[in-house]
Amino acid sequence: MYQGRKVRLRAYSQLDLDDVLRQVNDYDSVRMSASGIILPATRDDESRWISQQTSMGHGEYQFAIETLDGRYVGGCGFHKIDWKNRVGLIGILIGDAGMRGHGYGSDAVRVLCRVGYNEMNLNKLSLTVMADNTAAIRCYSACGFKAEGNLRGEVWREGSYHDLVAMGLLRGEWNDDRAR
Ligand SMILES: CC(C)(COP(=O)(O)OP(=O)(O)OC[C@H]1O[C@@H](n2cnc3c(N)ncnc32)[C@H](O)[C@@H]1OP(=O)(O)O)[C@@H](O)C(=O)NCCC(=O)NCCS
Repeated sequence: MYQGRKVRLRAYSQLDLDDVLRQVNDYDSVRMSASGIILPATRDDESRWISQQTSMGHGEYQFAIETLDGRYVGGCGFHKIDWKNRVGLIGILIGDAGMRGHGYGSDAVRVLCRVGYNEMNLNKLSLTVMADNTAAIRCYSACGFKAEGNLRGEVWREGSYHDLVAMGLLRGEWNDDRAR
């Protein structure tokens, strides 16, 4: 539906179920993108989750990411929107390791910015990322996001506490050319 240079953001469909299930059960994929307890998901869990992704939601909007030739590569979206202050919290997962590093993630974030600013009229997009997640920090930085601070010891993972980096991009700083 929303197209970038390399990927398209579209609605989820039950046809994505096998891919979604494989990716959410891949510990190495989700360990960087979820701060909660990582538990195995069943087919029913993920089928229900897909059914719940609706444009009727008021604060959470998720998109499937597919390549321009139609291969599902992951998901991204707005997890929480503060409509009064016009701030949206975003997230992204390119689920299969072999699909990372091809420019799909940064292109998807650029398209998400275009949707957030040009369609939803948000003023700021923000996120937190594990401080050692170099790929994600580079991905967001390449899209114009700036580091806003270090949140010390926010995530307990694999037996120790990890810092998060808060990142944000104000609409006035956003360069629309990056989205084309
Ligand atoms: C983070 C993520 C979305 C990036 O998507 P991607 O398609 O792999 O990244 P891209 O190919 O668009 O590359 C974006 C930037 O990251 C860099 N990068 C990609 N993989 C990298 C790696 N393993 N190590 C270091 N840098 C890396 C690229 O060089 C590029 O930087 P540049 O523009 O300065 O050259 C993807 O790796 C992912 O889904 N990771 C697991 C989940 C996750 O961490 N989500 C984010 C949680 S906040």
